[in-house]
Amino acid sequence: MEFIDLKAQYRALKGDIDARIQKVLDHGQYILGPEVRELEEKLQAYTGARHCVSVASGTEALLIALMALGVKPGDEVITTPFTFVATAEMIVLLGARAVFVDVEEDTANIDASKIAAVITPRTRAIMPVSLYGQVADMDEINAIAARHRLVVIEDAAQSFGATYKGRRSGNLSAIGCTSFFPSKPLGCYGDGGAIFTGDDALAQAMREIRVHGQSGRYNHTRIGVGGRMDSIQCAVLLAKLARFDWEVERRLALGRRFDKLLAPLAPRIRPLAVRPDRESVYGQYTVRAASRSAVQEKLKAKGIPSAVHYPLSLHQQPGYAAQYRGQSFPVSEKLAAEVISLPMSADLSEADQDRIVAALA
Ligand SMILES: Cc1ncc(COP(=O)(O)O)c(C=O)c1O
Repeated sequence: MEFIDLKAQYRALKGDIDARIQKVLDHGQYILGPEVRELEEKLQAYTGARHCVSVASGTEALLIALMALGVKPGDEVITTPFTFVATAEMIVLLGARAVFVDVEEDTANIDASKIAAVITPRTRAIMPVSLYGQVADMDEINAIAARHRLVVIEDAAQSFGATYKGRRSGNLSAIGCTSFFPSKPLGCYGDGGAIFTGDDALAQAMREIRVHGQSGRYNHTRIGVGGRMDSIQCAVLLAKLARFDWEVERRLALGRRFDKLLAPLAPRIRPLAVRPDRESVYGQYTVRAASRSAVQEKLKAKGIPSAVHYPLSLHQQPGYAAQYRGQSFPVSEKLAAEVISLPMSADLSEADQDRIVAALA
């Protein structure tokens, strides 16, 4: 059994993917070729966002979004310590401070009720993460941001395809950033990402920053990066979009089936909660297990792969700890010690899912 079955997905789409890649090889416009704009238009339509700017990765999406807002040394950006490192890393890279707010124990997403208390005159933005494919409390977070004139950047790296009150993740705040890393809900065959916004000026700034701050050929109006997504990666996603709706439905059905099958195993194994007003895309299917290492060993012995997302709260990571000495985020720390992710992809069979559940039981 694979943790994420990318080969079955390729087999299902091989004809279209191969043809799309061949087309790029034939026209030879590997950088900013026609596939790039075609993909951006399709993703705008999918999310409902006015603008989509494709970029080199999810990490680059966060960096370019923060650069477009002019985040600089001394600024503060509020985010969660229970996330992949890139979220905080890009804030710190710009010389700003990542101000952590602890998470909710049942969803692992940022606790919106604790955000207002950490806002200072230096706060520029709030960056919630839609962890494991479930969108955070965006209405509450947008309302806090509006009261304090802050910008909300959704880190939707794990949640492309998820919905919140019927609206798509990525298009729920001023800026949304996603990742097309191969294992993500919509993944390409290398690195890729996208930024969504409804703001014309921000979109223009992001387009310029993605090509070294160019507003015209060799006219560098601002500081930028080399942050474009390749035409070949866009071509792969264009082919994959053909069955993406089916994949999202399938992930949702498998996630809900896991919830139901695992319910009798509580409290030893506890699925995370999904709020009734949103649909997770289960970027990861993650549960809590008090005796995690024993569970992982047992699964491994039965040939079932698992992973830990993530083993430490970011304030405990060696490269970050000095900045957060004396601070604690008890829920994040507790979840980091308990979470375990099970195999999940649209191509996971019910039979394999039953095997996973039996092994856990
Ligand atoms: C929450 C989160 N943010 C950012 C990223 C960075 O995306 P990428 O790997 O495409 O740079 C990831 C992906 O691993 C992620 O899970």
